[in-house]
Amino acid sequence: MACASVKAHVLPQPADAFFCNTAMVELPLVMQTAAVRYRVRPMQLDDIQQVMEVERESFPTAWPQTAFRHELQQNRLGRYLIAEECSYPSQEGPPPEAQSPSTGAETGPLRRFLGNLRHLLARDMQRDHPPRGGHPSLVVGFIGVWLLPDEAHIVTVAVRGSHRRCGIGEMLLIAAIQMAQESGQSLITLECRVSNTAAVSLYEKYGFQQAGLRTRYYSNNNEDAYILTVSPVTSQRYRDEFQRLGEEHRHRWGDYELIQ
Ligand SMILES: CC(C)(COP(=O)(O)OP(=O)(O)OC[C@H]1O[C@@H](n2cnc3c(N)ncnc32)[C@H](O)[C@@H]1OP(=O)(O)O)[C@@H](O)C(=O)NCCC(=O)NCCS
Repeated sequence: MACASVKAHVLPQPADAFFCNTAMVELPLVMQTAAVRYRVRPMQLDDIQQVMEVERESFPTAWPQTAFRHELQQNRLGRYLIAEECSYPSQEGPPPEAQSPSTGAETGPLRRFLGNLRHLLARDMQRDHPPRGGHPSLVVGFIGVWLLPDEAHIVTVAVRGSHRRCGIGEMLLIAAIQMAQESGQSLITLECRVSNTAAVSLYEKYGFQQAGLRTRYYSNNNEDAYILTVSPVTSQRYRDEFQRLGEEHRHRWGDYELIQ
């Protein structure tokens, strides 16, 4: 498990949602102040730069920037969502010390020490993931869906390497399935490399099953693709199971904002 085990008694989200894949430190209560919160929202043109970073580290053959532009501007059937880490520290924001509530017990050298430590941690986060274009948020993943006449087709999904295994891929898939349900699509399909056990496991968790194989589908290494489908996602039975999985996800990883 790559996620840190920072205990966050002062925060609404469970501990696992914090500082995924970063230094694993048990901090004193007074340090537990960085309210990391994820939001899923439609991708915009000025997200593309960060989306490309995630894309490049996720796929051997990345889509060019123009492809994302085209999808957002020209493809009426395309729906692209990003997951962002909203409380990502901003260079324009108040100094880290000012963001942290005080217990009132910090005085003298302890106060200075904690202030310095907060500052160093925030500076490290900024160095590892500098804010882009004035955005205080970090794009940590994205998903693309084509709402075709008779099916919803998931064309892409990826999570930033530093944020994998923290429930973000699942959060994006939940949002995509919900989008399909709301637009009345009962069938969801996708292709996935046969070697991609992480993705296959994610899809199987949400009821996808192998419906076929596209041989030598991927041009970079001639790998086969599974055709995975789930249907009918609009049935009450599926909705019940989907709701259970969604609640389990929120319980495990914390609440997030979903804007579609
Ligand atoms: C596939 C991918 C999107 C998963 O995102 P993620 O945020 O790491 O996944 P989550 O933490 O939400 O995990 C959800 C489920 O996915 C599966 N999963 C994710 N990573 C896994 C791994 N390394 N090994 C096995 N199962 C994995 C598990 O079923 C997991 O459920 P669990 O936590 O109850 O076991 C991510 O690995 C990625 O971006 N890969 C590169 C791009 C890619 O392959 N995209 C898919 C194209 S079809």
